[in-house]
Amino acid sequence: MKILITGGAGFIGSHVVRRFVTKYPAYQIFNLDALTYAGNLENLKDIQKSENYTFLKGDITDAKYIDSIFKEYNFDSVIHLAAESHVDRSITDPLAFVKTNVIGTMNLLNSAKESWKNNFKGKRFYHVSTDEVYGSLGANGLFTESTSYDPNSPYSASKASSDHFVRAYGETYGLPYIITNCSNNYGPNHFPEKLIPLFINNIIHKKSLPVYGDGNYTRDWLFVEDHATAIDLAYHKGENHETYNIGGFNEWKNIDLVKLLCKLMDVKLNQKEGESEKLITYVKDRPGHDLRYAIDASKINKELGWEPSVTFEQGLEKTIDWFLQNQDWLDNVTSGDYKEYYSKMYQ
Ligand code: NAD
Ligand code: DAU
Repeated sequence: MKILITGGAGFIGSHVVRRFVTKYPAYQIFNLDALTYAGNLENLKDIQKSENYTFLKGDITDAKYIDSIFKEYNFDSVIHLAAESHVDRSITDPLAFVKTNVIGTMNLLNSAKESWKNNFKGKRFYHVSTDEVYGSLGANGLFTESTSYDPNSPYSASKASSDHFVRAYGETYGLPYIITNCSNNYGPNHFPEKLIPLFINNIIHKKSLPVYGDGNYTRDWLFVEDHATAIDLAYHKGENHETYNIGGFNEWKNIDLVKLLCKLMDVKLNQKEGESEKLITYVKDRPGHDLRYAIDASKINKELGWEPSVTFEQGLEKTIDWFLQNQDWLDNVTSGDYKEYYSKMYQ
């Protein structure tokens, strides 16, 4: 079995690659990544020498290159995670999101269709997507697999578009696909421009914690390794042409989450309780900020038997410990371009 995993040097992709390389030694895992600012091979240094692992540096927007690697390696399946993934960046540069998330996905679909055209049996195009395609919930209700798409940010519009193309290739050409739509992930290797790792890093460096708007926005948080487990299950046991929602039934208002994080960080850093909370600063809201996301993950639970393995408190503690033990990683990824991004975004 030759599996092409795209975006494997990123946050979630690195956990998926590690899981497949170590759990399935009989599979050949090819990690294709352009190593953008979010891609980091340090995330995979523990498995980089494994016999069943190959890294391919390349860009999914390059159709010729994608065609050439399908011809060279004859992949049996694709697990597609490569994307521009940060909502704030999509507000300042929407076209970059169309290029990678829409055109890049199209290139993979075209090459897979061409490569598998004589026999789709046993092939699978697994597209990793987000709950943000469903738009924003009010105070009540959950996103189910039949909730209509209603994306609000350029990021979620580009992901919604890629989901539609994957489905369309299934309907039109019979391409065997699966889509999963997951809620907010957190955990080791999370790039520190997203809420949780950004705030951990800022607490370590005693910098302000920029809470957007009034902080009353709600997200549904899932530990990244539980997402990787769900992807493993859906890849092996999911039905073709189906969508599965993945989430932790774990909703937090941003401000409550930030206060919990501050409390845990005070303990870990041996500080007086309340020290980190003093860093909270309310800043200008994100334009088009979705009020609430919350996933109904009962389909994947009932049909595939998946459930999260850790509570939020356990996952958050593991995450904080990882960042405190890996400050070199943090220092490396927050040098250079990151500094420029941070000062443009927050100052
Ligand atoms: P990330 O930004 O951490 O990583 C993305 C990876 O894709 C990086 O390694 C980057 O180098 C690579 N990449 C970007 N553009 C590329 C291109 N043109 N060609 C090849 N590689 C390219 O993202 P993440 O948070 O790990 O998200 C992974 C996937 O999961 C995305 O598709 C995202 O939409 C989806 N998702 C993320 C979350 C979340 O909370 N982070 C939740 C649900 C779904
Ligand atoms: O829901 C899944 C999505 O979760 C994924 O598809 C995206 O790839 C991923 O980035 C994430 O999107 P969010 O926009 O929800 O994540 P982010 O960490 O950027 O923000 C989480 C919440 O915290 C959101 O309400 C905005 C707020 N926030 C974020 C940052 C970076 C702040 O208040 N301050 C900040 O500095």
